[in-house]
Amino acid sequence: HCVPVILAGGSGTRLWPLSRRLRPKQFLALGEVDGASLLQRTLTRLTGLTSAAPIVVCGEDHRFLAAEQLRQSGLNDVTLLIEPEGRNTAPSLTLASLEAISRGDDPLLLVLPADHAIADEVAFRTALSQGLELAEAGWLVTLGIAPTRAETGYGYLRRGEPLGVGAHRVAAFVEKPDTARAKDYLASGDHLWNSGVFLLRASVWLAAIERFAPAILAACREAWAGRHGDLDFLRPEREAFLACPADSIDYAVMERADDIVVVTLDAGWNDLGDWQALWRSLPRDADDNSAHGDVMLEKSHGCLVHADSRLVAALGVDNLVIVETADAVLVAARDRIQQLRALVERLDGRE
Ligand code: GDD
Ligand code: MG
Repeated sequence: HCVPVILAGGSGTRLWPLSRRLRPKQFLALGEVDGASLLQRTLTRLTGLTSAAPIVVCGEDHRFLAAEQLRQSGLNDVTLLIEPEGRNTAPSLTLASLEAISRGDDPLLLVLPADHAIADEVAFRTALSQGLELAEAGWLVTLGIAPTRAETGYGYLRRGEPLGVGAHRVAAFVEKPDTARAKDYLASGDHLWNSGVFLLRASVWLAAIERFAPAILAACREAWAGRHGDLDFLRPEREAFLACPADSIDYAVMERADDIVVVTLDAGWNDLGDWQALWRSLPRDADDNSAHGDVMLEKSHGCLVHADSRLVAALGVDNLVIVETADAVLVAARDRIQQLRALVERLDGRE
């Protein structure tokens, strides 16, 4: 009876112009045909897994969007925890842990990012049930993915001693290494990517955050004490939460804790973090193009083209990302897409 905690407060700037400040990627139906958003898919993927009400943590600006999507998917029994402003994921999980514990016991939490695709749901559930057993025994459990490239946007963990089939103690955890280290980790054969899916007891998280980032726990406790319910939303006290230091689960705790276990997940996992990742995970034609909407391509290769509201035609271009929406068009070199975040930051105030 684990409590799912969905982290849905990210800004998704690297998928601009589809992902917008008022409608970031977790609320979009990216990379699939059934029309469900990433948030909806993250929750419906759990059907039948637990009877506990999930906790969705998201930002003030997206509360109605989140509520509407949950309603649409028939997910009525969900607690929507609203952050007045993002302070990254460590405070989000701390608030969710306080909420879970206030329900009366010390439940296991299944922490899920809202920006992933998982092709093989059976393999996903197998890894989860294995992880839940280990979390029950008090470990901080993460699901790990065998790396296929020297990606610098992920956390890497080094496998230590085995703990049953497909599970290992984590000997070291490094969040977002530079390219040189990412290459070493890939070559070593004993590193896994951190999927960002965690399983742990609420009290285990609170003890960890108290040890490694006591200021986060103190601010969240205060914000929690002053919480109030408003319509369908549960709101921590604003000023106390705004005073909370910003940090991620990975930097604040995972890099420092030593009781972490990794369960290997081989389920066609994909982080849909940017256009490059999306291009990689989407079906492609013989010329390696992935086209969506009204698109015509001629003598072009390796492109991702998305047309929202008009016909988009391209001739003789390679490895481009072309994304057309009603009010903005992006044309970018696919291998430069990491720099999109900086470009989008320059748009601040223009949207
Ligand atoms: N509620 C809330 N508040 N959610 C947030 C916030 C916040 O302030 N910031 C981010 N999130 C959500 C995002 O929407 C996403 O679903 C999840 O938390 C993870 O945040 P990202 O910003 O996407 O993290 P990342 O992709 O850079 O890194 C994490 O995921 C990688 C795998 O995808 C780390 O866990 C890495 O170690 C991991 O490899
Ligand atoms: Mg991400």
